[in-house]
Amino acid sequence: MDDKLKGFYDLFWRRRSIREFSERPVEPEKIDRLLEALRRAQSAANRQPWHFVVISDKAGRAALDEVFTKEGFRKAPLLIVACADQSQAWTRRADKINYAWVDVTIAVTEMIGAATAEGLGSCWVAAIEPELVREKLGIPGQIDIVAIIAVGYPEKELVVEDKARKSLAEIIHHGKW
Ligand SMILES: Cc1cc2nc3c(=O)[nH]c(=O)nc-3n(C[C@H](O)[C@H](O)[C@H](O)COP(=O)(O)O)c2cc1C
Repeated sequence: MDDKLKGFYDLFWRRRSIREFSERPVEPEKIDRLLEALRRAQSAANRQPWHFVVISDKAGRAALDEVFTKEGFRKAPLLIVACADQSQAWTRRADKINYAWVDVTIAVTEMIGAATAEGLGSCWVAAIEPELVREKLGIPGQIDIVAIIAVGYPEKELVVEDKARKSLAEIIHHGKW
């Protein structure tokens, strides 16, 4: 494997969910690049059925304190609330499945890859009370609140251990299930 390829896999395989953040703010140019990663993501039929509420100021973050059950997330210097607009998304005709949440998830995953490359830690936080978030941020009723992504410099140096993952044998079906 050449160095470029190794760098690519390292980036994804070394990523871990970070739940404790230092107080160091995220540089505005880094925030801009993360938002650009969201904007450039792929989506079904290129519908881009997403909105992201970006909160990096102290007062804005404090307003979301009660949304989190883990103290670490309250310290995250950057919060990105990932939202899906099903009315804008592509729907598969055969079974009427709406792809809005898939599209939002792809955009977030690409942004998390960018954050990792920027030396930032991040964590998806789906265990929130969406109606509380909606009320605090004025998110319209037809918009789904998928998750909050907490981003910032990790408090501690990352120790990368192998994460418990299913084996390939458990999840890959060659040719037929
Ligand atoms: C869709 C999604 C929702 C998640 N929600 C939460 C959450 O609410 N709180 C939390 O602490 N971690 C949350 N996580 C992080 C997962 O627990 C974590 O990704 C998983 O344990 C694997 O660990 P790793 O990310 O360090 O590889 C979420 C992850 C994903 C992908």
